[in-house]
Amino acid sequence: MDHFQLKDGVLHAEDVALPDIADQIGTPVYVYSRATLERHARVFREGLKDAGKVHLAFAVKSNPNLAVLKILANQGYGADVVSGGELQRALAAGMKAEDIVFSGVGKSRAELTLGLDKAIGQFNLESEEEGQMLAEIAAARGEKASATLRVNPDVDAGTHAKISTGKAENKFGVAIDVAPDIFARLSKLEGLNLRGVAVHIGSQLQKLDPLEKCYARMGQLVSDLRAAGHEITHVDLGGGLGVPYKPEENPPSPADYGAMVARVTKGWDVTLMFEPGRVIAGNSGVMMTQVIRIKPGVNSDFVIVDAAMNDLMRPAIYDAWHHFEAVQPTGDTMTASIVGPICESSDIFAKEREVDRVQTDDLGIFRTAGAYGATMANTYNSRPLVPEVLVDGDKYAVVAERIEPATIMAAEHVPDWLK
Ligand code: LLP
Repeated sequence: MDHFQLKDGVLHAEDVALPDIADQIGTPVYVYSRATLERHARVFREGLKDAGKVHLAFAVKSNPNLAVLKILANQGYGADVVSGGELQRALAAGMKAEDIVFSGVGKSRAELTLGLDKAIGQFNLESEEEGQMLAEIAAARGEKASATLRVNPDVDAGTHAKISTGKAENKFGVAIDVAPDIFARLSKLEGLNLRGVAVHIGSQLQKLDPLEKCYARMGQLVSDLRAAGHEITHVDLGGGLGVPYKPEENPPSPADYGAMVARVTKGWDVTLMFEPGRVIAGNSGVMMTQVIRIKPGVNSDFVIVDAAMNDLMRPAIYDAWHHFEAVQPTGDTMTASIVGPICESSDIFAKEREVDRVQTDDLGIFRTAGAYGATMANTYNSRPLVPEVLVDGDKYAVVAERIEPATIMAAEHVPDWLK
């Protein structure tokens, strides 16, 4: 459920009419709903009510906007970060250092050091080599870094290959069969408090079966590690729960997910950690765009909009579907391809799709753009960086400004010897 609904024939975000935002801020623009973010944060937490002691870390990569992070901090969420930049954002938004988990396959020496400087709660180690480096840096400071070992359980998450992370050939974690040996060696290091294991098999998961299979393997691993004499107090089960992108899609609900987690992890006696991103932020945001013009095509018309693949990359790189709707629908539909102005054939949001009928200057939205939307935007074709707006009831605020080419050019330099 979200708060982007028609009222008197006009799409609203909560109580704000989207054309008002377009008039004031321009398009393209991302629009987030505070009420939806808070609702999703609550529903995810409630889903895990029978799962014992739980730690929730919002996957910052899905939506790193400071205002969004602040909302989640207020909901008691910590952060799952994968870079020094995300770490700084989580802290700036008011997340507690001890609630921050540092994931990521290539944490640099500088980033590991930053994590120690800020006294974050946990590092999820992705290799023995990384564990050795962290231990060495921490020991030299007379500290012990709390950490888990990320395991690759070799489970097919059944999602798009580019967002699948738990198969043996993926670069993430250490293979589950060698994990006990690596754990044993790392746990001896002075600078580490190796307290558990972590896993994340992919994103936009449509079924619980792969997750259940993965968690069952983690349960066995926890038993094996305990049998070998290790103390295991934390297991990080990652993120990955999918959301509906099409009205007819029906991925598992947080309640179904939580019930499965409670059943599979019964008796583990650990703090369970979660890293949800998309399930919280996805349907909390839309990207609004304006039709520049309509051009006839061979199979169907092209609706050329002012948003492009640089603003919302998912269709271009994962063939992702984002539902398109007119902001003031007439009830009539058309078959059209919705495309952006960028000079690439992959700059296409919808191919020969039946959509609300729109004309030049009409506004439309792409739904489910709150996760992996603005965060992946760039300025390709020297387009401005897309702004973000947060709605709260009948008020709204710009929470990320449109960054114009002039600002970006100001950070570029032509050396004297070229002048
Ligand atoms: N934890 C780790 C270690 C991750 O790598 C990810 C996502 C998450 C948590 C959050 O997963 P979520 O709950 O959001 O599924 N750009 C792609 C998605 C990439 C996801 C990468 N990792 C997309 O637009 O679909």
